[in-house]
Amino acid sequence: MNLKGRDFLKLLDYTSEEILGLIDLAADLKAKKKAGVPHRLCEGKNVALIFEKTSTRTRCSFEVAAYDLGMGATYLDPTGSQIGKKESIADTARVLSSIYDGIEYRGFGQEIVEELAKYSSVPVWNGLTNEFHPTQILADMLTIRERFGVLKGLKFVYMGDARYNMGNSLMVGCAKLGLHFVACAPEKYFPNAELVETCKAIAAENGGSITLESDVQKAVSGANVIYTDVWVSMGEPDEVWAERIADLTPYQVNASVMKMAAKNAVFMHCLPAFHDLGTTVGKQIHEKFGITEMEVSHEVFESEQSIVFAEAENHMHTIKAVMAATL
Ligand code: CP
Ligand code: NVA
Repeated sequence: MNLKGRDFLKLLDYTSEEILGLIDLAADLKAKKKAGVPHRLCEGKNVALIFEKTSTRTRCSFEVAAYDLGMGATYLDPTGSQIGKKESIADTARVLSSIYDGIEYRGFGQEIVEELAKYSSVPVWNGLTNEFHPTQILADMLTIRERFGVLKGLKFVYMGDARYNMGNSLMVGCAKLGLHFVACAPEKYFPNAELVETCKAIAAENGGSITLESDVQKAVSGANVIYTDVWVSMGEPDEVWAERIADLTPYQVNASVMKMAAKNAVFMHCLPAFHDLGTTVGKQIHEKFGITEMEVSHEVFESEQSIVFAEAENHMHTIKAVMAATL
């Protein structure tokens, strides 16, 4: 597998073999890190990390992964650079690629990261856009494989707003790797019809399937993985909360949902999650709407079936694999 010089913008751009190759590399780099074996595969290089939205996991993962690989990293926060305000994406791409060996971008429309890659002469990695979050999917698949030993044939159910970055990317990832993907949501939260058709064709080639289902019992029955994400994503206006709470409360992952799934089912979430009143936003929503938990109940989040922290750790190992493979 030679991915040198490639961008990593969305999983649709990668073959199933290449995605599995990145997951294998992540597992190998994880084993090396755990064993204390140095893996400074990119010694002397430097990467720029552009974040137009906030982040804990992705930012820390890129920084630590860069240091472990022997690189320097510069973090550009959502307010501290000229990007988009005084300098276009095309100009930023040309400036940063003359200084750095790779560029990570987290922000709004997918077209922005695609534009950055078009004008950049070094690899560009998508650290989340409104449409896709591909490094998260590599982490999720590594975590699932660690738990079940396989990926192909597992039943994967995504509950909640399936139209956004996580629903879209998980659907593509499942299609590429032969899992049976179910989007469980009210119809208006189903992923874009064109992307669904594309994913159905990819899934058919890999022994998987794509199903859209509003009935929770039907969707979840026999599932191996139950996945959810926040009901309102970064960059969306506060006004949408009331409608989302009304529409998506029946799709909350709680103990009764987990009981409908397979005995060996796991709960996953890309995080951050609203499962208690331990956050400012959680408290504000509680004051306004009277609820104490949202997309996942505190009970499920803290249960034995929840593998969210293993999943968060794996984000670092998979981001490291993406940088090591493409630089
Ligand atoms: N899952 C994830 O991307 O988390 P952050 O927003 O903290 O980076
Ligand atoms: N859908 C979420 C994912 C966060 C990792 C968001 O875009 O805010």
